[in-house]
Amino acid sequence: MKSKVAFLWLLVMCQFGFSQSVVRGPYLQLRTQTSIQVRFNTSSWCNAKIKYGLSPNNLDFETPNTVGGLTHVVDILSLIPKTKYYYAIYNGAVKLEGTDQNYFITSQATGDTQKVKVWVTGDCGTTDQNNNQANVKNQFLNYIGDSYVDAWLLLGDNAYNDGTDYEYQTNFFGVYQNDRIMKQTAIYPVPGNHDYNGTTQITHEMPYYEIFANAGAAQMGGVPSMHKEYYSYNIGNVHFVALDSYGMETVNNFRLSDTLSPQVAWLKVDLAANTQKWTVVYWHHAPYTMGTHNSDTVFELVQIREKFLPILERFNVDLVLTAHSHTYERSRLIRGHFGMENTFNPSLHQLSSSSGYYDGSINSCPYEKKSDGSKKGTVYMVSGTAGNRLNFRSPTYPYDALPIIEEVHGGSLLLEVEGNRLDMKMIGSNGAVIDKFTMVKDMNQKSTIDVPLNSSSFVLNSPYKEPSVWVASQSVVPSITIDNPVGGMVFHVEDTKGCFKDTLTLNTLNPCFNQRNINSLIENGSLINLKTSNKIIGASILSSNTHVILDAQNQIELLPGFETKANTIFYAKIGGCSSP
Ligand SMILES: [Fe+2]
Repeated sequence: MKSKVAFLWLLVMCQFGFSQSVVRGPYLQLRTQTSIQVRFNTSSWCNAKIKYGLSPNNLDFETPNTVGGLTHVVDILSLIPKTKYYYAIYNGAVKLEGTDQNYFITSQATGDTQKVKVWVTGDCGTTDQNNNQANVKNQFLNYIGDSYVDAWLLLGDNAYNDGTDYEYQTNFFGVYQNDRIMKQTAIYPVPGNHDYNGTTQITHEMPYYEIFANAGAAQMGGVPSMHKEYYSYNIGNVHFVALDSYGMETVNNFRLSDTLSPQVAWLKVDLAANTQKWTVVYWHHAPYTMGTHNSDTVFELVQIREKFLPILERFNVDLVLTAHSHTYERSRLIRGHFGMENTFNPSLHQLSSSSGYYDGSINSCPYEKKSDGSKKGTVYMVSGTAGNRLNFRSPTYPYDALPIIEEVHGGSLLLEVEGNRLDMKMIGSNGAVIDKFTMVKDMNQKSTIDVPLNSSSFVLNSPYKEPSVWVASQSVVPSITIDNPVGGMVFHVEDTKGCFKDTLTLNTLNPCFNQRNINSLIENGSLINLKTSNKIIGASILSSNTHVILDAQNQIELLPGFETKANTIFYAKIGGCSSP
């Protein structure tokens, strides 16, 4: 009878929204092109629903009510890709939460080269020593301004000290849930030892797996792991892999370093199937660190480095993000170092001595890789100061292979990937960019650029994603517009910091144009065989070492200004083609 009365009271509270509020979240998970999952807790039992739409004042759609309870998980389905949706939480007609800060943007397609922006926090869920956790968050939000963040990666130890639900409420949600980042950006976590703790290392029965969604069905891309502990996903042209470095599997109590474990078996299949340009793998336990943990003496760290890293490097992973030590430590581009610290040999294992800053300072060119595997290497990072920053250091700190460190401030990471360029920044608790590096793929090469059919002009973008030096004109712009593009035209472009030289050759899909005016400088190396069904009007200068055939059915008109330089092969002939 007592419980019946209590239930009725809860029902009344729910129906009339008595002082009901959202006490956890809302937070987002499982973001795809067409769906997202909203999670939140209410202060008392109720059914709840999400209203959503394209503006905060027109939430025209709504989900069914949740089944009822304190914890709510709502999937919003049938959305449009790359679209901004506002949402609000309702209990019946009572709005519990919903402002212009409650929005998300659905994901781009796998392979899309639109910029991907990611926040990474390691060991964030401490008891906020010296307010560092809040400062790191606030300075990151200040740095990114109003820009949208596609993903928030948690590197484990997200709620100290034992990962209890209460600790998640106070040390994680309590710190982040009033900020836009939690309302807007989907979370992609991995567990740390403090999220497990105690006996749950074997049972995996802990709040972490209740709080966060099971992403093991490859809802966001990748190969299904069918395990809640580890999963993969794609955002644009980046393949992310989230691993569990503490939980044990099977009766053998396999860990990440056991290469026969289900986790590693799945990982090999997943990485073999991955076709994205970039691969980022993250887990909690740092394989290289001389911070608050010592990767020469802590057995589990030694094991991961010796047994597991060779697998990642075999699949040419670009970036490894870890935490566990409450330090910031970062490598240059390295490969093949699996032994103790004193076996690290820069001449063998370090593929670039650059800082990677890419800011014009001495020896700062980006780390350069090739998608075909002819240039390899990985950057390893320990970023465990989003919560507190401990002063304890292992005796040989800094680690020889991870010499780029931050001693004073805590911080978090801003990862940005656009096309063939990856930029990482460590944003400190003081608001400064304390460290940064750039990695690129497929630069310093000759590329063919397809021009759409019947283009009268074409915008040619620099491969460097920033203003670049177009050699012929010496203009410094991110792109140039080419009028009357013709297949075989070559364009030389260099970056402003003296790191790259690329040659771009146009490929026009038209075998026969009606008429073409060629007025621009034909750069050296161009190999042009232009056919038209009418005429060609030329006023170009043909640079040295060009080979140009103008072949028109009716007329070729060379205007004043047309000029051929030394070592040019030039033919003009009547014949052309008959069907444009
Ligand atoms: Fe840890």
